[in-house]
Amino acid sequence: MSDRLYIFDTTLRDGEQSPGCSMNIEEKMRVAHALAALGVDIIEAGFPIASPGDFEAVHRIASEIHGPKIAGLARAATKDIERAGMAVKPAGDHARIHTFIATSPIHMQAKLRMTPDQVLERAVASVKQARSLVPEVEFSAEDAGRSDIDFLCRVVEAVIKAGARVINIPDTVGYMTPDEFGFRIRSLIEKVPNSDQAVFSVHCHNDLGLAVANSLAAIENGARQVECTMNGLGERAGNASLEEIVMIMKTRADRYDIDTQINTTKIVPTSKLVSQITGMSVQANKAIVGANAFAHEAGIHQDGVLKHKKTYEIMTPESVGWTTNRMVLGKHSGRAALKARYLELGTELDDEQVIEVFGRFKILADKKKDIFDEDLMAILSADSGIDTERVKLVSLHAASGTNDVPVAAVELEIEGVHHKATAEGDGPVDAAFKAIKSLVEPRGKLLLYAVNAITAGTDAQGEVTVRLQNGDRIVNGQGSDTDIVVASAKALICALNKLPGMHAKAVHAQYSGV
Ligand code: KIV
Ligand code: ZN
Repeated sequence: MSDRLYIFDTTLRDGEQSPGCSMNIEEKMRVAHALAALGVDIIEAGFPIASPGDFEAVHRIASEIHGPKIAGLARAATKDIERAGMAVKPAGDHARIHTFIATSPIHMQAKLRMTPDQVLERAVASVKQARSLVPEVEFSAEDAGRSDIDFLCRVVEAVIKAGARVINIPDTVGYMTPDEFGFRIRSLIEKVPNSDQAVFSVHCHNDLGLAVANSLAAIENGARQVECTMNGLGERAGNASLEEIVMIMKTRADRYDIDTQINTTKIVPTSKLVSQITGMSVQANKAIVGANAFAHEAGIHQDGVLKHKKTYEIMTPESVGWTTNRMVLGKHSGRAALKARYLELGTELDDEQVIEVFGRFKILADKKKDIFDEDLMAILSADSGIDTERVKLVSLHAASGTNDVPVAAVELEIEGVHHKATAEGDGPVDAAFKAIKSLVEPRGKLLLYAVNAITAGTDAQGEVTVRLQNGDRIVNGQGSDTDIVVASAKALICALNKLPGMHAKAVHAQYSGV
């Protein structure tokens, strides 16, 4: 019988720590539902002590998501563990606290300013406290890759004795090489006398591009939980990518004979959802989920694939959820069909949401003949959190031409009051941005403006990502529309809505009503 590998998804925690990737609560709920449908074993839903918003998100995920275990992260500190315990409590016997403390010399001396004995004592006390709150405790030795192996063994033995049933060995700074890391995992399992009472887990960062290779080396040496993220999101260069780990297990079952519970046909829709929500686009040549992952350009390859797919394809695009841009719905489709298609894409809509989303679907279907899955996901993104937005786009008119100065006129509703502005710019998008920004404060500094056609054809919806910075806060906004200037305005407004304290600029003339 094949062994089982537990997939611990940390897209909502480590993934969210990627610059500009923070998600609001509705966005987190959508990702959590998609991860549950994908079949991950554990969702790390957030870091409850970090902010009230983080706490609420973990609490809601623990209340509403059924199937996977729900983990909340906590430093090895009393308050952190209390908050994490409260946040994951609604998950009942599926609740897990994931507590961590650093064990490498540099982290203990320079960051924690604690002796190894103090760290060990804190680790044990934290695991005991966490164990009194939830049925399952995971312990992580942060920067385990650079920790002294004998000290690591002492800590691991002590925390297992204190009740930890999952031992996570992170390569926090992505420093390890596969042979070193594999050896480290094997040494721990062999040397720690009570290692048979815990599942060994790994959490690899990708600073040297080795996160997946190091995770594989760990699996080969006994690890049975892998912490990973969709699209490899995460701090700095990211974490091991979920889709790669899962498809390696599936495609090379001859070598590993280790199963995951992942429904691989949901990988691409989940990847697209995460990319749309976070605004982190996936590079075209990214394994499994990149747009070119199954595209054959060279004539000799095309010829081979036409004769026999397996000449150049080691897995089928369908097996990971690539549809051939299949048209799913059109102008005459009804609510039930729409609801059913969203369910297939991993999102369950309640009756109220169906009404809302159906309205947007009809508007789009009037403009665009064929509605693809990508369009449906974009409709949903545009819909999320709409009622909580302080700024809404009422209307936009932009004009440009070869001999004209581009100009845009916008009307916004800011906290219930209508405001209008007109501006000229270097192009219609620039003019629209200037007009919008003249009405609000703070405006944020534009760090990124990216446009993507989400389906083929000149009637395709353009999806725009805008990244803004205000002080130390970086936010992303997305917008989609068949009109690229409108999509850009929506993306800017979406980002502005995420800037704390954003309000109407006082000097502008206001008027109410239309
Ligand atoms: O990279 C890391 O060490 C972490 C821990 C909190 C598991 O993210
Ligand atoms: Zn990490």
